[in-house]
Amino acid sequence: MIALLPGDGIGPEVIAEAVRVLDAAGCALDFQQAAVGGAAYRESGHPLPETTLDLARRADAILFGAVGDPACDTLERRLRPEQAILGLRRELALFANLRPAKLFAELADASALRPEVAAEIDLVIVRELNGDVYFGEKGMRTTPAGRRQGYDVMAYDEDEVARIARVGFETAMARGRTLCSVDKANVLETSQLWRDVVTEIASEYPQVALSHMYVDNAAMQLVRNPGQFDVIVTGNLFGDILSDQASMCAGSIGMLPSASLDSAGKGLYEPIHGSAPDIAGQGKANPLATILSAAMMLRYSLGRAEEADRIEAAVAAALAGGARTPDLGGTLSTSQMGDAVIEALA
Ligand code: NAI
Ligand code: MG
Repeated sequence: MIALLPGDGIGPEVIAEAVRVLDAAGCALDFQQAAVGGAAYRESGHPLPETTLDLARRADAILFGAVGDPACDTLERRLRPEQAILGLRRELALFANLRPAKLFAELADASALRPEVAAEIDLVIVRELNGDVYFGEKGMRTTPAGRRQGYDVMAYDEDEVARIARVGFETAMARGRTLCSVDKANVLETSQLWRDVVTEIASEYPQVALSHMYVDNAAMQLVRNPGQFDVIVTGNLFGDILSDQASMCAGSIGMLPSASLDSAGKGLYEPIHGSAPDIAGQGKANPLATILSAAMMLRYSLGRAEEADRIEAAVAAALAGGARTPDLGGTLSTSQMGDAVIEALA
């Protein structure tokens, strides 16, 4: 069973197209839908109701749209729509975030990079999602000199590093068998442990060529020569920044899928974009990021790589045939883009 959580804004619009494409591809999946985010708050007073969380727990995989609703911005933090995605990641122990960045050749002009450099991008960033400065001890205190001081502790233990390293190596095994681990080991103790543990785990994967890179250099290399990367594994903070950077190198935000996985391979699949309130309800949203997220779901959680390949090829074929939503400089509506992918499946 697949839990469908459309959410807010353009979430339901893009999820509808992903479901149409999965059906048209003959996947015959059993979908069960539940409210999440602002939509759930309005129905039940909570952005992640127990019934929704329970459905997600029972599901083989979760296909998620987006959450976020300007009408909820004045609510206290725990009731805001965005808390739903954080709650799902925490409750389902989704510790590994996989973000592919690949430029479809037809969209070279949409990249922030020169076309010949952009054409080289085909990489996956594996980002740790449950640790690092976002989850360490944090607070506000007063220094002895009487100044206000904010602090966020960066911490990883060796098991946390080992499990994300294994996801990095497994991802590399399924791709080009090279893995670049990104850290800041020249100044951070956390990164020194990270580097040591990743190097230890490497002995379990003799087929994978491991390299290490400092995060500042990695940021530079992503723009200078992105073709050198196949799989990057990194911590939560560095991965947050590098994956957004890589996504802009790969074109529109409406094109990029993601997966968040637990240790058993169960996952939540979602576009990297948000609920886009500025275009919601107008049929302008690009559904390809969600359609590609559905393909990742087939590949990573359901073991159906052939159907995933077919859907990804249909997206490429639709783009090659000139299908463009407004974010890509075209005029197709959300459902017309869905139609173009479905036609290309045949
Ligand atoms: P956003 O990603 O929703 O939108 C940024 C810009 O990109 C907007 O101009 C939007 O129209 C455009 N855009 C996004 N997706 C598009 C698509 N599929 N097709 C065409 N254009 C697209 O980010 P923003 O505006 O910062 O956040 C809006 C709301 O979404 C906020 O409430 C935010 O908290 C939430 N959000 C939720 C996420 C999630 O559910 N995982 C992730 C990011 C933001
Ligand atoms: Mg981010």
